Amino acid sequence: MASISLRSLEKSFGALRIVKGIDLDIADGEFVVFVGPSGCGKSTTLRMMAGLESISSGELRIGDKVVNALPPRERDIAMVFQDYALYPHKTVRENMGFSLKVRGIAASEASKRIEEAADMLGISHLLDRKPGQLSGGQRQRVAMGRAIVRRPKVFLFDEPLSNLDAKLRGQVRTEIKRLHQTIGTTIVYVTHDQVEAMTLADRIVILRGGVIEQVGTPDEVYNTPASVFVGGFVGSPAMNFAKAKITNGALAFANGDQLPLSAIHTNAGEAREGRDVIVGIRPEHFTYVEDPAMALTATVQVVEPLGSDTLVHFAINGETLTARMPPHVRPQVGEVLKIGIDPTKLHLFDATSERSIH
Ligand SMILES: Nc1ncnc2c1ncn2[C@@H]1O[C@H](COP(=O)(O)OP(=O)(O)O)[C@@H](O)[C@H]1O
Ligand SMILES: [Mg+2]
Repeated sequence: MASISLRSLEKSFGALRIVKGIDLDIADGEFVVFVGPSGCGKSTTLRMMAGLESISSGELRIGDKVVNALPPRERDIAMVFQDYALYPHKTVRENMGFSLKVRGIAASEASKRIEEAADMLGISHLLDRKPGQLSGGQRQRVAMGRAIVRRPKVFLFDEPLSNLDAKLRGQVRTEIKRLHQTIGTTIVYVTHDQVEAMTLADRIVILRGGVIEQVGTPDEVYNTPASVFVGGFVGSPAMNFAKAKITNGALAFANGDQLPLSAIHTNAGEAREGRDVIVGIRPEHFTYVEDPAMALTATVQVVEPLGSDTLVHFAINGETLTARMPPHVRPQVGEVLKIGIDPTKLHLFDATSERSIH
């Protein structure tokens, strides 16, 4: 196992700067997930760690060794891709054992490792099949098995679940987490899916346009997003945003609603008079009570019953927000409601910088 450190890591393709200086320390045994929209530089960053892409500037260490110039096979890492690329004419056992054979590992030791990994992944009964006789989920497990048998210091995963259907994705996701709990090897995992990031990660790195927007545990990025971008990216349905101005010690919304700042316990310190802010409210932090102390006046637009709860989409002065309500709540479309807010759960961002106000 090994720690990884990235120091001012950069990647340019020609004149195009893609990864713009990443600093990060990944602890030995940590599960770190890079998440961000398509094209933000996740794969490029991972490929630099793997040695599949040269590093334009900065320093990359695995353990205490600078590996910038080290070829992939000397880095002691194993990578699992979205496209698992198994050898079609080899059996599962041969696919899993191939890299061991190339590295000159004795057949008896290879067999032991293959059987152990297959057992861990629940594919022991498939060892003599060829990839064509497997489902997508089974093939993805074989690809993981192929990485596990090598006993690398670090696993790198690049969107390994993207080719699987939704149900299978959930299952394999749980298996990856269990795998990490069992073998404890450092994992760096790349995805554009915030649910995958939240469920798997010890720490999440939110990447945007080649720079780190925020690093934190899933709880930290959910509870204290550093920016509008992070607030909107983490959580589902997404965080709502509404413009407001701080006026007479209250958040004044364009529709005339006022929420006293004194009741808002989170990051209101620098909410000075006259400041334009963006208020972030998660759908789950609206409340449905008879006579809410803190509320927004809202016109109901669309009601979506989900069984477990009801999503209510409503408008305040032209902005559409979404509230997650208890299942029995079924307001009428067009109805004007007072939708309560948990004041301790509001997020304030500067209207210009879109950074959180602490
Ligand atoms: N070999 C390359 N040459 C030029 N541009 C590239 C190359 N590889 C990736 N890019 C560009 O770098 C950006 C980031 O790509 P990538 O790291 O694959 O994003 P992500 O994995 O976050 O979706 C994209 O705009 C992509 O087009
Ligand atoms: Mg990618």
